[in-house]
Amino acid sequence: MPSTPPPGEPVPPDGALPATAAIGAAERAFGLYVHVPFCAVRCGYCDFNTYTATELGGGGSQAAYAGTAAGELAFAAGVLERAGLPPRPAATVFFGGGTPTLLPAADLAKLLDAARGAFGVAPGAEVTVEANPDSVTAASLRELAAAGVTRVSFGMQSAVPHVLAVLDRTHDPERVPRVVGWARDAGLGVSLDLIYGTPGEDLADWRRSLDAALACAPDHVSAYALVVEEGTRLAARVRRGEVAAPDDDDLADKYELADDVLAAAGYAWYEVSNWARTPAGACRHNLGYWRGDDWWGVGPGAHSHVGGVRWWNVRHPTAYAARIGAGGSPAQAREVLDDGQRRAERVLLGVRLAGGLPAAELADAGRAELPALVGQGLVEPAPLETGPAGRVVLTRRGRLLADAVVRALLP
Ligand SMILES: C[S@@+](CC[C@H](N)C(=O)[O-])C[C@H]1O[C@@H](n2cnc3c(N)ncnc32)[C@H](O)[C@@H]1O
Ligand code: SF4
Repeated sequence: MPSTPPPGEPVPPDGALPATAAIGAAERAFGLYVHVPFCAVRCGYCDFNTYTATELGGGGSQAAYAGTAAGELAFAAGVLERAGLPPRPAATVFFGGGTPTLLPAADLAKLLDAARGAFGVAPGAEVTVEANPDSVTAASLRELAAAGVTRVSFGMQSAVPHVLAVLDRTHDPERVPRVVGWARDAGLGVSLDLIYGTPGEDLADWRRSLDAALACAPDHVSAYALVVEEGTRLAARVRRGEVAAPDDDDLADKYELADDVLAAAGYAWYEVSNWARTPAGACRHNLGYWRGDDWWGVGPGAHSHVGGVRWWNVRHPTAYAARIGAGGSPAQAREVLDDGQRRAERVLLGVRLAGGLPAAELADAGRAELPALVGQGLVEPAPLETGPAGRVVLTRRGRLLADAVVRALLP
């Protein structure tokens, strides 16, 4: 998770959840996120909770990590059981980072086994691993598939060398089709992450990256506008005037180009920044976040959400390892959301989905904004015609201005 969490309230040392967390749990899917907080090199634009080998030692080291995270999985199973939640095998597992594939495949396999032991992993579960194209081999991908991984999400970012250089990416663009081929040979689904709006990238560069991604025939593409995060090297370079900040009009042109090129190749958007070749290719794990399902986030800085209780772990891997080693909760703080906050969260996330948001989720003040949003071409006309029973679906212009739409819907 890139952003700084709110202060929140303390979490009991045994991680006990309030009784409300169990209400309705049988109807909610359960997902598991495992954060792997290591990268070979820190990219200048990235503020994810991740560390290079030289920054860490002792209990926070890469070598110790799988054992520590397996400890949190066992701890999690106890917390959920004591809170009276029904046993639910994980419907999805997502190893994110950082760079999960910096760990040996055997460590990720060990963590999947620990998840099977703690909660079970449902038959047919989606199991994703994020990977940097530099950090996999044909053999490691085969090992991951044999361990039960079903899909791999590669951080491609761009196919253009001068753009990759500004992003501090170390991989050769030619490596991407090669690693995708290895993943396919191993029987894995493939997603590619792209970034647009990098300083110095023109529209032709972005088109080249989209074409190169499509030439790999991935099942899924994520395209993110470059965010200049405070405290990163990129932010310092922008402040010093060395590189230009992303420009809103340029970002809009690039989003539209992405949507045109991906749609023409048969990829449909299902979330503002995500396109899939078939409905089954959508990332079920991320859909769980956007739909407000339950998930446990394992690892330093990882966030969890169970029945309106949201908590986040201590951020530093050494502090995290110390908490797990002592047998207590690794949570730093939590928030127990009231009904109004839960509804606001459903609006914030649900409106970004192609399936739209039930208009009935909106408070009167939000619903009153719909005619204006339709008039501005940000929301499809359907909710006006069908009233509260309808769904609020963003137009393409609305997807570009999704944050502004949310502000209008949550006055
Ligand atoms: C954890 S990384 C993916 C795996 C691997 N670490 C890598 O970068 O290849 C998740 C994705 O977040 C996106 N990302 C990170 N920082 C970003 C930023 N400042 N702006 C836009 N996208 C960003 C990148 O597309 C990246 O692929
Ligand atoms: S490799 Fe991925 S997680 Fe690591 S610093 Fe770069 S973008 Fe961030």
